[in-house]
Amino acid sequence: MPCASRGIFFRTITIMRVKKLTNLDVRGKRVFIRADLNVPQDDAGNIVEDTRIRASIPSIQYCLDHGAAVMVTSHLGRPTEGEVSADDTLMPVAVRLGQLLGKPVHLVPDWVDGGFEVAPGEIVLLENCRCNKGEKKDNEELARKMAALCDIYVNDAFGTAHRAEATTHGMARFAPVACAGMLMGAEIDALSKATENPARPLVAIVGGAKVSTKLTILKTLAEKVDQLIVGGGIANTFLLASGKRIGESLAEPELVKEAQAIMDMMKERGAEVPLPTDVVVADEVSALARANRIPVDEVAPHDRILDVGPKSAVRLADIIAHAGTIVWNGPVGVFEHNQFAGGTKMLASAIAHSEAFTIAGGGDTLAAIAKFNIAQDVGYISTGGGAFLEFMEGKKLPAIAALEERYNG
Ligand code: 3PG
Repeated sequence: MPCASRGIFFRTITIMRVKKLTNLDVRGKRVFIRADLNVPQDDAGNIVEDTRIRASIPSIQYCLDHGAAVMVTSHLGRPTEGEVSADDTLMPVAVRLGQLLGKPVHLVPDWVDGGFEVAPGEIVLLENCRCNKGEKKDNEELARKMAALCDIYVNDAFGTAHRAEATTHGMARFAPVACAGMLMGAEIDALSKATENPARPLVAIVGGAKVSTKLTILKTLAEKVDQLIVGGGIANTFLLASGKRIGESLAEPELVKEAQAIMDMMKERGAEVPLPTDVVVADEVSALARANRIPVDEVAPHDRILDVGPKSAVRLADIIAHAGTIVWNGPVGVFEHNQFAGGTKMLASAIAHSEAFTIAGGGDTLAAIAKFNIAQDVGYISTGGGAFLEFMEGKKLPAIAALEERYNG
């Protein structure tokens, strides 16, 4: 396997120095935890996937066990500020949190000016913080008011760390003490491990519909990784760039030059973008669609490429088997339908059996991990989507930067 020069790091090594919750004495203190409890719900408001709530429990439990008066808040969705509609309320989250903690969790509306009680060893959930006017613009007055509610501010919301909002950024500046929660600490440690001095070969898998939404991460990865596996609509754009016909497949012809540049960049470094040599096609994306496995050179004008074919899947599995570190964001096919799930299933199985340190992130990736039941075999599953990608791109996340600034006081 071609291998890019060793010793190149993803990001300049900057040890992130943040105060950690578990190093602080929280007994009798008012602790405000900004969590990311932004979980998917069905039309009736039922939570369909609760990973983020579960991942937030350790910090909350730690504070409760150590006698803190605990206030927790999160955003849910992208509501209009100044109102809390039925879709915006954290009530379903309060119920789920209560089940996981084994005690009822009271939801407090209109909490910014205080006026609610929470005793040491008790918890309240503060209604959707993104409904407060000024939250999204990181309004200073709002941040100061919220910071005055607590003795210790804990940011455990890694999934929202790429947003500079009043609860993720402003509060860290004005609270008496600002620290990282246990989830935030674990995310920083795991993502740093994959980016700062990764075991080689370093293999990245970037799937999803559009090159445009992942262009920056693709370019960043192209400078660093040994193999860049692309999947989904992104792979189709790369196939176009390499002169293949893709019929009616989802792609972005306007980004063919960018895709070509990424492949050239990889080639120059002796690294590679392994494109599929066989594919699974159908004429529609549906559970009933009839799937055909064909060589990539036989894609017909009305075909849509919906998965990699078995030969390509075996090749990807082989690349994964030899990896030292794997960064996984996005599936390689429409795995929600079984006839287009083979490629992602093979990938998932190869990851599960690999000895490499794997870090996975993003909603679709988490869904694939759940579908193929490999969670226990993945090195680290990030709760971040956008935050995961921005961290991997080497960007400084505003919420983490704000905590770093409070390291000494
Ligand atoms: C996410 O779902 O990725 C995070 O909760 C951030 O949500 P946002 O993109 O609405 O800020």
